[in-house]
Amino acid sequence: MYPARPTSTWWRDAVIYEIYVRSFADADGDGLGDLAGIRSRLPALADLGVDAVWLTPFYPSPLADGGYDVADYQDVDPRLGTLADVDALLATAHDLGLRVLIDVVPNHTSVEHAWFRAAAAGGPGAPERERYLFRPGRGPGGDEPPNDWRSVFGGPAWTRLTEVDGSPGPWYLHLFDSSQPDLDWTREEVRAAFDDVLGFWLDRGVDGFRIDVAHGLAKDPALPDIGGRFARGAVAEEGHPHWDQDEVHDVYRRWRRVIDRYDGDRVFVAEAYLGSARRLARYLRPDELHTAFNFDLLLAPWDAEAFRAAVDDSIEHLAAVGATPTWVLSNHDMVRHLTRYGGGEIGTRRARAAALLLLALPGAAYLYQGEELGLPEVTGLPDDARQDPTFRRTKGREPGRDGCRVPIPWEGDVASYGFGPGAASWLPQPGEWAELSRAAQADDPTSMLWLYLEALRRRRDLLGGDEFAWLDAPPGVLAFARGDGFSCVVNLADDPVAWSPPSNTPTLALSSDPVDPAGPLAGATAVWWRS
Ligand code: NOJ
Repeated sequence: MYPARPTSTWWRDAVIYEIYVRSFADADGDGLGDLAGIRSRLPALADLGVDAVWLTPFYPSPLADGGYDVADYQDVDPRLGTLADVDALLATAHDLGLRVLIDVVPNHTSVEHAWFRAAAAGGPGAPERERYLFRPGRGPGGDEPPNDWRSVFGGPAWTRLTEVDGSPGPWYLHLFDSSQPDLDWTREEVRAAFDDVLGFWLDRGVDGFRIDVAHGLAKDPALPDIGGRFARGAVAEEGHPHWDQDEVHDVYRRWRRVIDRYDGDRVFVAEAYLGSARRLARYLRPDELHTAFNFDLLLAPWDAEAFRAAVDDSIEHLAAVGATPTWVLSNHDMVRHLTRYGGGEIGTRRARAAALLLLALPGAAYLYQGEELGLPEVTGLPDDARQDPTFRRTKGREPGRDGCRVPIPWEGDVASYGFGPGAASWLPQPGEWAELSRAAQADDPTSMLWLYLEALRRRRDLLGGDEFAWLDAPPGVLAFARGDGFSCVVNLADDPVAWSPPSNTPTLALSSDPVDPAGPLAGATAVWWRS
């Protein structure tokens, strides 16, 4: 049994809904979701029963990476709205009782950011270049990149600048796309500028920030070759020269001091792909960040032991620093979990069971737009519709993340299914999405939406505090209690298992599929029991 802790702050057990801004709702009909569209649809999220929304970046951006290439951190992309639209969205959300988190992208800017433009235009030795990681190339003529680091999106992590006069210049580091140059976080000027960015949005009333690539800001100053020492990708391994370096923690201590100057229980959530919950806990020490995504569950295969290990690891290590876990199954970077769990009927059954598991665990839960509709990954996008730089940088070897970013269906029989006023949507929607629209599911008690509505409506009352304890269960089954009055049982196996409800929680509260309380528990099924 893990000790109970007081839940003093809203984010400790909140359900937070990720809005992928360009794919949620399009008010002006240009096919791109926008802030006015989001605002008009917030009542549906209040009805769903979530506590907060997280908005992906809406800043001016050339959109080389879906807005994670920011040209100006203190403005709104005109295609998405204006600063006044942000203010209106915040006001409407707060009126509805919803908090709003926004994305901050500190690891890199866009090449269109004023800083990078000045650096590029400034010529050799320009002080503006010191805000980024410019280095001379290796080999004759400096023709080779300064080291062997690879971009997360494929290809080298360095691109050579062409000077204004057309001559080859130094190379700049970009852990992501070549249009996303990494900032040099050893520079006080960079640190101070981001204090201002945080303050700008906190003053406007945002309730917190999701920190993009939180584990990437600090680099080993020697910029050593990696060789074969670490796997390519965004998941940090200990000793890696550009992930999870100790100096990132100085930044978060500083950010904590900034946010603590504001009332209203504002919060940080770090996106940090780390090899272990033990390393993640270091970001959550009392003077650093409040929360971080725990991706272990998301990355685990559909397997009871793997799920159990992910849950145990997170709870144990985070409790050691007094932090609360956050759980997530899908986001805008990952293949949607319904598809990861097998797709079709079995994927749907498993996704339904996983939803009840996610929402019964202690801590906060993040939902990704469309999972409450049971949207699958869109796998058949035509190549010329694909936008994710991963597709281009891997020469099509990796499809990229567009398949989870297709604009979501709201109502009606024809595309764009209420996403916008007309048919336009920046990624094409599948023909069969009419039946997955929110309106089509709203009155159907067997729908995915209904399950999420019920679970969210009952979660708070049923679950009580932070207490958590595993219960004995046969292989393939996870069972746990939350205090004395609630238990959750999930059969991850495909076959039915004999199961009787725990004696202190004998009453069926909710199940992912119909259950006979006296009979065996079907495969891929979850049940909430209460006293
Ligand atoms: C993580 C974001 O979630 C992803 O969409 C983005 O491409 C990278 N960080 C780079 O900013």
